[in-house]
Amino acid sequence: MAKTVQSIRGMHDILPPETAAWQFVEGRLRELMEAYAYHEIRMPLVEQTGLFARSIGEVTDIVEKEMYTFEDRNGDSLSLRPEGTASCVRAGVEHGILHNQQQRLWYMGPMFRHERPQKGRYRQFHQIGVEAFGMTGPDVDAEIILMAARLWQRLGLADEVRLEINTLGSAEARAVYRRHLVDYFAYHESQLDDESRERLHRNPMRILDSKNPDMQDLVEGAPRLADHLDTESREHFDGLLALLDALGVDYRVNHRLVRGLDYYNRTVFEWVTDHLGAQGTVCAGGRYDGLVRQLGGRATPAAGFAIGLERLISLVAEHGFDTPAGEPHCYLGLLGEEAVASGHRLAEGLRDALPGLRLQVNCGGGGMKAQMKRADKSGAEFALILGADEVREGRVTLKPLRGGEQVNLARDAVANELATRLQLESKA
Ligand code: HAM
Repeated sequence: MAKTVQSIRGMHDILPPETAAWQFVEGRLRELMEAYAYHEIRMPLVEQTGLFARSIGEVTDIVEKEMYTFEDRNGDSLSLRPEGTASCVRAGVEHGILHNQQQRLWYMGPMFRHERPQKGRYRQFHQIGVEAFGMTGPDVDAEIILMAARLWQRLGLADEVRLEINTLGSAEARAVYRRHLVDYFAYHESQLDDESRERLHRNPMRILDSKNPDMQDLVEGAPRLADHLDTESREHFDGLLALLDALGVDYRVNHRLVRGLDYYNRTVFEWVTDHLGAQGTVCAGGRYDGLVRQLGGRATPAAGFAIGLERLISLVAEHGFDTPAGEPHCYLGLLGEEAVASGHRLAEGLRDALPGLRLQVNCGGGGMKAQMKRADKSGAEFALILGADEVREGRVTLKPLRGGEQVNLARDAVANELATRLQLESKA
């Protein structure tokens, strides 16, 4: 036998019935976007490599180690997108839809990072992202946080996630703070682990992110960005926290939250859970007022977040609402050649009359026993049976598959009967 071909490590097929859970969650997400009047934008999966280096930052894990980068046939360096914000800003600048306008945008789709795969961390994963452009105040930061909070509520996850929030201040304030931080860690260099020593001069704020237990005391004692904030950023943050208080959104200020992408300023936040092991961040985002300008547009304030769908869906599966499995309501068994054309005509008529009906028609023949076995396996509640006699007499047998008496119906009464039993809206 020929050797089988496997999928790429860290890139997964999503099979039925799991796809039904994805569709359910994606449906709730689309409703959420509509509820806040955000509009969908769709960007290519591939961009020039320079876009990500200029936005996410040259000295970040994503750009240094994790991008799928290749040369195309013209010799251009291209990369699979590791996230959506950079592409969204690129598209907004390119099409002139950001300058002097307010834009509330969202996107959903696959992202690619060559990380070490583990539960909740994949090389192809999916995000829904939200980006709001043109608004400077903390009100829009509060709006996007409320959106996420409403989503948890709608998916039954409100008790499973909590909000951590911080402010990174202005780029200038951060540059001053960075010098204090480098001095501090350089003074204690012998206590740094290898990763942190490597970060010391390249990206010292990431040392604050260290999960190494041996470094926690050192990190706790580090100078705080909060003590070096510029006045405007301090006021922005106070304004946001006051809004969250007024709106009843719980949060914890986490001074060590710095995020792994360089474009942020002022507000950063993460929604985290204890239920997903090491990969507990379900949603992350913040403000990035400098990025549009940095990518060649006119200065435009912006804020957004992205949710990892794999993490969200496993959280829903374990702690949220039951998601529908998408089984058919009804399985139509067709006995004998005469029933095939007649049966498909019946099925088309039922689909016309009952737009919400999920109807599976038997294909590939088979006897009564084999077809009823398939009907049972499909998960349907009812079987409809059409044999030569039924075709001749203009009748159909309806057999409940999960208990109850079977009945013989006139063919034109089937739609009404199913509408009643399945509580479906009828167009007949
Ligand atoms: P991020 O923190 O890199 O931010 O990713 C956002 C979320 O995507 C994470 O919290 C996580 O749920 C999910 N995620 C990231 N990497 C993986 C992975 N390898 N496997 C599974 N899930 C993953 C951003 O991407 C920013 N663009 C968010 C943003 C939008 N900020 C402003 N606007």
